[in-house]
Amino acid sequence: MAFDSYLKLAASLAVASFGGLACLVLYRVFFHPLSKIPGPKLAAISRLYDFYYDCVLGGKFVFKIEELHKQYGPIVRIGPNEVHIHDPDFFDEFYTVTSRLDKDAWYYAFVGSKDAGFGTANVDLHRARRKAMSRFFAASAISNLESSSREKVSQLCLRLRSMREAGKPVNLSNAFRCLAADSVTNYCMPKAFNLLDSIDFADDYNRQARVISHIAAWHRHIPIIIPIFMRMPRWAVAATSTEGAVMAFDFQTDLARQAADAVHAEKRSDRSVLDGIISSDAIPESDKSVDRITQEARTLVGAGSETTGNTLETITFHVLANPDKLDRLKEELAQVVETSKGSSDPLSNYSTLQHLPYLTAVINEGLRIACSVSGRLARVNHRQAYTYGTYLLPPGTVISMNIRSNHTFEPVYPEPLTYNPERWLVEGEELKRLEKYFVPFGRGGRSCIGKELALMNLYLTIAAFFHHFDAELFETTRKNIEIEHDYFSPFPAVDSKGLRVMLK
Ligand code: HEM
Ligand SMILES: *[C@@H]1O[C@H](CO)[C@@H](O)[C@H](O)[C@H]1NC(C)=O
Ligand SMILES: *[C@@H]1O[C@H](CO)[C@@H](O)[C@H](O)[C@H]1NC(C)=O
Ligand SMILES: *[C@@H]1O[C@H](CO)[C@@H](O)[C@H](O)[C@H]1NC(C)=O
Repeated sequence: MAFDSYLKLAASLAVASFGGLACLVLYRVFFHPLSKIPGPKLAAISRLYDFYYDCVLGGKFVFKIEELHKQYGPIVRIGPNEVHIHDPDFFDEFYTVTSRLDKDAWYYAFVGSKDAGFGTANVDLHRARRKAMSRFFAASAISNLESSSREKVSQLCLRLRSMREAGKPVNLSNAFRCLAADSVTNYCMPKAFNLLDSIDFADDYNRQARVISHIAAWHRHIPIIIPIFMRMPRWAVAATSTEGAVMAFDFQTDLARQAADAVHAEKRSDRSVLDGIISSDAIPESDKSVDRITQEARTLVGAGSETTGNTLETITFHVLANPDKLDRLKEELAQVVETSKGSSDPLSNYSTLQHLPYLTAVINEGLRIACSVSGRLARVNHRQAYTYGTYLLPPGTVISMNIRSNHTFEPVYPEPLTYNPERWLVEGEELKRLEKYFVPFGRGGRSCIGKELALMNLYLTIAAFFHHFDAELFETTRKNIEIEHDYFSPFPAVDSKGLRVMLK
């Protein structure tokens, strides 16, 4: 072909693709089944809208969505095929066990683990994969969970005692995240991380958790980022990244190795969750590949650490910032120790702690206000249409809600941004009303599998910390712990110093 024919070909290709693009834009704005749903046209046209807020600005789309709701009302089209609903009374059945919802594969791609229980989009495939590990998290597993959790809490207290002697401020944001990661890995992996052993509570590692989470948001839009990172040789990571990133890389490599060891073990066992998944007959052998088991390992650690760490940090901050609540909590704890003199340590007995009304209120209010899963919960029903008001949402529409909408619902939680455990000290119908909108662990078939382990860690840690230590906030304000960026988990501003206390 002569040069000018190339030119002509290129020109007609350009015209064609421009034309195609223009048609797509027109279709999405005017003819798409969701075209009547209010919302910004740019969001209707392209995912780039989401990309700008979540990647370029860094985890800011949740806040933009809140703004859009103020402007457009309770339903907003936030993507070409996605609506967001801000209405706690919507679809009582929507997130329940019976409704057969898929997760939106595109949204959940951020974890780079589409075959893990957490990341599996398809409802039926998910059910089997979840079943393969559910026995480890069920009520019957409580005593195993408890001993694992108790061990880690006493280790934390030991560390804090030695730091108290040193008389320096302690970064509890780090300490609590170490506790959470150790507890999850101790229970779920053949070998625990043991971050609590590190001198500075794994400062670098915890710092990079946020970097990785930001990268994950990019991965959602450009889904080759995580595989590239994981396939980089270690020297290349070391040469281009921070110490924390290298540590993260090493932990990921370690998880993959543990997964491989477990898959290739001579005898199948139930000694950790990971081993248990492999020995389960709920899933076919094809679901026991090293790759998939690695994904389970990665998501269990991811789902369990940041969430529990963030909730502990939030509770501790608010209790320390409110001396009257601090006194009341300490009094309740002292009293239970007093009345059960002689028997083994009541503060390490979960069933005893669960019956303490004020401690329970302190923890519930912390879970409510922390919203430790801050991302939207994106769901799709491929079989059924929904109506919302006058709008029809055809099958396949991605429907998202946010836990925060529920937890700040003013008619139920007056002054929703105030930490007020006393609001939970009610009974009967009044309590039921509070609980109806209280969904820190989600709801339905995709709710948190680690809920019991998480609650146990919260009860045991908060009780031990406030009974054994007198602490004072050190240069910490609410801004240091509150969400500024959403990477599915909430993160404060980049320059936040976290929760720091002086132990006395
Ligand atoms: C305070 C702590 C925690 C909170 C607030 C929390 C919250 C949640 C929420 C809201 C979901 C649903 C997410 C979604 O719909 O995409 C979830 C799922 C999940 N969580 Fe947690 N979580 C916590 C601790 C843990 C722990 C300790 C584990 C440890 C093993 C864990 C493991 C998981 C897993 C595996 C899923 C996916 C479940 C599935 O899809 O079958 N979480 N969590
Ligand atoms: C919020 O609460 C309502 C009422 O209990 C429930 O139907 C809805 O699913 C909840 N939303 C989320 C995101 O869990
Ligand atoms: C916790 O306390 C209850 C009584 O309050 C007792 O029955 C139970 O055995 C204790 N559990 C452990 C693990 O010590
Ligand atoms: C404390 O830990 C948090 C979270 O890991 C971190 O963001 C913060 O910078 C740390 N604070 C200091 C003073 O190093």
